[in-house]
Amino acid sequence: MKAPIALALDAPDLDTACDWALKVTPFVSTLKIGLETYLRDGKSAISKIKANTDCEIFLDLKLHDIPATVRGACKSIKDLNPKYLTVHASGGTEMIKVASQEVPETLIVAVTILTSIDQKNLSQIGFKDDPITAAVNLAKLSVAAGARAIVCSPQEVSEIRKSVGSEIILITPGIRPLGIEANDQQRTATPEDAIKAGADLLVIGRPITGAKDIVLAAKTISEQVNKILS
Ligand code: C5P
Repeated sequence: MKAPIALALDAPDLDTACDWALKVTPFVSTLKIGLETYLRDGKSAISKIKANTDCEIFLDLKLHDIPATVRGACKSIKDLNPKYLTVHASGGTEMIKVASQEVPETLIVAVTILTSIDQKNLSQIGFKDDPITAAVNLAKLSVAAGARAIVCSPQEVSEIRKSVGSEIILITPGIRPLGIEANDQQRTATPEDAIKAGADLLVIGRPITGAKDIVLAAKTISEQVNKILS
């Protein structure tokens, strides 16, 4: 049975992305196409991947520019009609607002503080708050501007939920099953803990795509998630 997981299709070529899509489709609800695949293969990547799956499409372009440019970017991908499209919350109220107006059929997902950023990195880029406070503030601003989903660390889900309510979809990368390498992720949690905290959709890449047996990894994690939800 499918679990609320968005598999990050960060593949070295389109054939591999399509192969992963085919293999994980029975176990995950969503496929996330991000910068690596989209910038190399463009829009044709989406149609090819769609041909291999019945999963929802999550276009992770993390848009961050002036409102007019983001409006134009949204216009450019409107025909793809993804279920989700990411923008950076730090692009501000007006940028998020124009994105949600331009693609009303798509859920605008605001990325708060990247899970690869720790307290030290956050201070270096000029934030005075700790990651949780910064993420909560960005989430509130984004929802007020029209975002209908938020990307945050699983460690921030419960605090953000208190501020944005139950209707907003909380999406968490930084998922690492016990014993799996963190790679560049800093603010992580296991799939079980993320779900227990109230995450609605888990973004998972390397713990599945880097496994020796992708099907087994996807099946195992999806069963762990569904067990918590049942
Ligand atoms: O599970 P893994 O670390 O491989 O997941 C990486 C994926 O999660 C990448 O596609 C990256 O763009 C995405 N990500 C994200 N937001 C973050 C951190 C990672 O969308 N805060």
